[in-house]
Amino acid sequence: MTLAAAAVTRRFFRPTWAEIDLEALRRNLSKLRDKAAGAQVMFVVKANAYGHGAAECARAAERLADWLGVSCVEEGIALREAGLKQPILVLGSLYPFESFLAAAEFGLTPTVASLSAAQALGEAAKTVGRRLSCHLKVETGMGRIGMSPAAAGAVARFVAGDRGLRIEGAYTHLARAEDGPEASRAQMSLFGQAVEQIAREAGPVELRHAANSAAAVRFPWARLDLIRPGLAVYGLYPGFEPVLSLKSRVVFLKYLPKGATVSYGGAFRCKKASRVATIPIGYADGLSRGLSGKGWALVRGRRCRIAGRVTMDMTMLDVTDLPEVRVGDEVVFIGRQGGAEIPAAELARELKTIPYEIACGVSARVPRVCRG
Ligand SMILES: Cc1ncc(COP(=O)(O)O)c(C=O)c1O
Repeated sequence: MTLAAAAVTRRFFRPTWAEIDLEALRRNLSKLRDKAAGAQVMFVVKANAYGHGAAECARAAERLADWLGVSCVEEGIALREAGLKQPILVLGSLYPFESFLAAAEFGLTPTVASLSAAQALGEAAKTVGRRLSCHLKVETGMGRIGMSPAAAGAVARFVAGDRGLRIEGAYTHLARAEDGPEASRAQMSLFGQAVEQIAREAGPVELRHAANSAAAVRFPWARLDLIRPGLAVYGLYPGFEPVLSLKSRVVFLKYLPKGATVSYGGAFRCKKASRVATIPIGYADGLSRGLSGKGWALVRGRRCRIAGRVTMDMTMLDVTDLPEVRVGDEVVFIGRQGGAEIPAAELARELKTIPYEIACGVSARVPRVCRG
């Protein structure tokens, strides 16, 4: 192939990418499996696996995850189309109810969070002409979706009376798994009561689940029959290995005299003759504008300050103290380089948010490059 032909077939030139370490992801999942002590594991891959690439992560975890968890039917369909065969639970409340038909068509297990949803799923079962399994969602303190514990018996009675339906599981979501155990214990107690009601009406519940990463790690009593970790699998919970690194390269270097300014608004002014590197990454890639003048990147294993405002597609770094920097050098915004590290949690702290938002914020423009 000629150089020109190769250049035309290549799709990525801009040297900005997210590196996904699938070996680390598998190690994290194995660690969680050990902690689960016999409980099943649902790997939560909603929101494109928290920005890590859902199909690739799910495939990498095929032998380690009994279930996959997604937020909506669309995400489940994408995984089926990518060839994933595990059971998939749609964790969100399905609406409009036509989506039950799509869930059935693609072999996705729906959440039923209300009596009207159970009735609609019953109609869907009649339409497709086969029995449909579901997980009942019980609201115990998250205030998001789910039937109240008091209503769980009535919903279970309806499902048990409809030959087209089957309760495969019941679950709740803990709102304060990162705090002291009291709030989670109270939620688990309400959930326990709801499960008793369900069992009374429809027989024993096969899969009872409640624990996200924090609960799975901290509260053995919340693990029940299945745990539902996301954050820890991606190494964004303490004690687990980070999976995502956000990288780019120096594409432009210049010397600026004392007093010169960098980027919009002239917010960065050179205190002395300076060397400034331009990196092709900006807020359209998920590098928050909130890091303007405050964030860091690693170049040649050393921390360099973001100089001035992060722009849509480019960001400048002050590399005055690193005369050896060259165009083409790797730059790390999240991850390790040499002995240095910028964890996603550091960006989250700086931006007064949580690591979830940092990872989910890496935009679709950034190619995910999987290792392992
Ligand atoms: C219902 C449900 N279960 C499990 C999880 C996974 O939580 P975490 O990423 O904290 O482990 C989430 C994520 O928000 C969720 O919404």
